[in-house]
Amino acid sequence: MQVGIDQIGFYTPNKYVDMVDLAHARNEDVDKYLIGIGQSQMSVADQTQDAVSMGINATQYLPQIDREQVGLLIFGTESGVDQSKSASLFVKSALNLAPEVRTFEVKEACFGMTAGVMIARDYVRLHPYHSAIVIGSDLARYGIGTSGEVTQGAGSVSLLIKANPRILTLNDGHSAFSQDVNDFWRPNNSATALVDGKYSTQVYLDFFQRTFTDYQKLKKLQTSDFTALIYHLPFTKMGLKANRLAIADQDEATSELLATNFTTAACYGRVVGNIYTASLYLSLLSLLENSILPADALIGLFSYGSGAMGEFFSGKTVANYEKMLNPSGTKKLLQRRQKLAIPEYERIFTTALSDPIDGTTLISDEEAGYWYFAGTKNRIRQYRQK
Ligand code: CAA
Repeated sequence: MQVGIDQIGFYTPNKYVDMVDLAHARNEDVDKYLIGIGQSQMSVADQTQDAVSMGINATQYLPQIDREQVGLLIFGTESGVDQSKSASLFVKSALNLAPEVRTFEVKEACFGMTAGVMIARDYVRLHPYHSAIVIGSDLARYGIGTSGEVTQGAGSVSLLIKANPRILTLNDGHSAFSQDVNDFWRPNNSATALVDGKYSTQVYLDFFQRTFTDYQKLKKLQTSDFTALIYHLPFTKMGLKANRLAIADQDEATSELLATNFTTAACYGRVVGNIYTASLYLSLLSLLENSILPADALIGLFSYGSGAMGEFFSGKTVANYEKMLNPSGTKKLLQRRQKLAIPEYERIFTTALSDPIDGTTLISDEEAGYWYFAGTKNRIRQYRQK
């Protein structure tokens, strides 16, 4: 029995900053941002769009969920809204899932969603009648005027994992590597992350090489067996560096194919920005919605979470997978975003770093998601639908 990704939902907030405007405002060369970092735009969340509301909205974009079958709901995030209660419980309630559903939140920086995907894959193997929803949802925030500012973003991806999937089967096995390092972290009293950006790039590349090499040995595969290698993309240049390492000694046809598919997989991340846990799965969506791949094309996935945890695994495309996708819907979602002038972005960003005063009711923009965070009442978070 094959198990894998049957449906993919995506949500990103309705506002963005253009990197040309940001470069001008920060007195940087525009090409540093567009080419050196490799980002063109970044989504910006206002106070009504937090990890939970984005996660509900992404899940609403799953075309068909059989609520009776869902037995597991996992929420991967490093932008949690509560130190105790899982973000997944808010989603479960919004989606009206059955009380029997096992549900919890997972955290290991940007690896959280992959941890959820692996748990879900193995769960469905043991319980083939059931399906699992895995959500990754995050706000990447480094702060105004920091060197990480150009690598921010916001969004969520939701996956339905089930038996006989219609998009991507997940192969058995994986190669993992972890080490206790301090490349990126966010203390409990900080709404923005702390990062040693150049060190995190080194660790990421080192973990990629280790896990990719180990995976090839484990599965007796060559680089040329892969149709695409896709990556966690904090900013597209970071993945590009890993992809260059992967294709360094390959023949021309392999290098060209993997380079082209890298560019295709990076299209959405380039305009959405970093969405932490869900970033790898946004790369997958970008690849699948913007190329035509044959059935059984082998896709290698590199997941990385600072702190640090790396994992390489793979999947194969299912015939007619494109019928399960909605590229024009994704295009509309991106095009509906309103461009923010830099002072407006700074105001919205700063306001969203904290919750409103308890008892205040927030109003959501028309173009924001169907579900939104409406403020707290007696310090209990309120999620409303329009
Ligand atoms: N034209 C073209 N390229 C130019 C340029 C120009 N005019 N000016 C500079 N560049 C290039 C530089 O040569 C450099 O390229 P290389 O990396 O290939 O050498 C690139 O632009 C960036 O320049 P700098 O290194 O000088 O930039 P910086 O000091 O401002 O820092 C950064 C860049 C390190 C990426 C910083 O933005 C940062 O720290 N970002 C956060 C990184 C991050 O997210 N790390 C965590 C990764 S994992 C993750 O997502 C976290 C998780 O698990 C939650």
